[in-house]
Amino acid sequence: MKKAEIIVDRHFLIGDVDKRIFGSFIEHLGRAVYEGIYQPGSPFADTDGMRTDVLELVRELQVPVVRYPGGNFVSGYHWEDGVGPKDLRPARPDPAWQVIETNAFGLNEFVTWAQKADTEVMMAVNLGTRGPEDAKNLLEYCNFESGTYYSDLRKKHGYEKPHHIKLWCLGNEMDGPWQIGHKTAVEYGRTAEETGRMMKMLDPSIETVACGSSNLEMPTFGSWEETVLDLCYDQVDYLSLHQYYGNANGDTADFLASSVGMDQFISSVISICDCVKAKKRTNKQINLSFDEWNVWYHSNDADAKLPKWSKAPHQLEDIYNFEDALLVGSMLITLLRHADRVKIACLAQLVNVIAPIMTSDTGAWRQTIFYPFFYTSRYGRGTVMNTIVEAPVYESRTYGDASYLDSVLIWNQENDELTLFAVNKSLEEDLEISCDLRQFTEYRIVDHKILTHENLKAVNTEDHPLEVTPVSGQNAALDSGNLTALFPKHSWQMIRMCKK
Ligand code: AHR
Repeated sequence: MKKAEIIVDRHFLIGDVDKRIFGSFIEHLGRAVYEGIYQPGSPFADTDGMRTDVLELVRELQVPVVRYPGGNFVSGYHWEDGVGPKDLRPARPDPAWQVIETNAFGLNEFVTWAQKADTEVMMAVNLGTRGPEDAKNLLEYCNFESGTYYSDLRKKHGYEKPHHIKLWCLGNEMDGPWQIGHKTAVEYGRTAEETGRMMKMLDPSIETVACGSSNLEMPTFGSWEETVLDLCYDQVDYLSLHQYYGNANGDTADFLASSVGMDQFISSVISICDCVKAKKRTNKQINLSFDEWNVWYHSNDADAKLPKWSKAPHQLEDIYNFEDALLVGSMLITLLRHADRVKIACLAQLVNVIAPIMTSDTGAWRQTIFYPFFYTSRYGRGTVMNTIVEAPVYESRTYGDASYLDSVLIWNQENDELTLFAVNKSLEEDLEISCDLRQFTEYRIVDHKILTHENLKAVNTEDHPLEVTPVSGQNAALDSGNLTALFPKHSWQMIRMCKK
């Protein structure tokens, strides 16, 4: 049996978790909005047409912020189409996803939904076909009190109080050739600078996110970040990262090592931010917004066959299996280990579209990836401890050495709680772990959850929604300050300890 040790010192800390690291994303795409969060006429809909069964599941996840309305969609979007009387709203072709957008749902409905979901809105502006002027108008509509054209228009539309949206994305994936209005780094850096400047002049309380690379494989990765930041450093607060992983070639050991790739990606972007900081001789630090991350590949073939120009088709409906949940657990651990610089992260997406929550006309259910997100969001808040992990490693095809044990320890000092999240990536062997916690006197284990399944490809469906669900663990002990546990092969774990 393999063994691992987690070395902890209560004085060695990485930083406090910004709760926005547990954010998510709703795009006008597929059935995320229509039939996802909004379905008037459904037996589950409330008087505003919002799906109450979905709202309940979103509230369970305790998602503090949701990015909206895209994604690729935003780069061709006219937000004005989605506000005001519904019978006057135009249907438009959405070139990004080649579907028809009815505009029956727009930003005011999303703000209403967000209030019901106990979450904040992270709004993206269109810097593909539009620019600073339209972004400013949108901000005026959302955040200006009254007495101006757009703030009075909002009031006329029935929203007396401003929406007070604090977090703004300056475009989406502007480095990608697939993006409507795709730009070079210089073109985008200048536009982001002008947009951020004008928006902050109108409302200095907002925070802005500049687009980093669409993924680590982009040929312009690195130089894109440097050039963009060079041009818009003073007008932005965060730089975005996006990354999706898949197991199309069936190499699960390699797939599970993807979190090593994510870790390296984050470290590289931090280096670039700090390089620009040094060049500018400034004290201002740019932090990271990992505002799209997930597993995404299961639906690719089906999506390629979809007829074009339909309304709310079944697009990007990945059915997640058990091994996907292991990687999502590992990716959350990776994000937490970078809590000193990753302040925002959005699981992409939230409902139906590459999502933890699925719906049909007859109900809503939790996909496998729901569970690691649920527990990490609930109990992963506090201070991240800077642990040293001594564990056996394996050689992965794409990422080189990968530890069998991925782990993070969170200390919630307010509640006197310590929570260990861990993944044993070994496909063959259990892992015996030990951790000296004698500095944390009088702690005891209050909860131990394990997510495992003999079949790596097991899925949850509407008919079998509980196929992959966490169970309570029996084989962890905290005796005289020494934590020991046996992590079964390919398993995700959470051990919560509280002061007596
Ligand atoms: O989340 C799905 C898509 O992935 C988003 O629209 C885009 O930003 C990314 O490429």
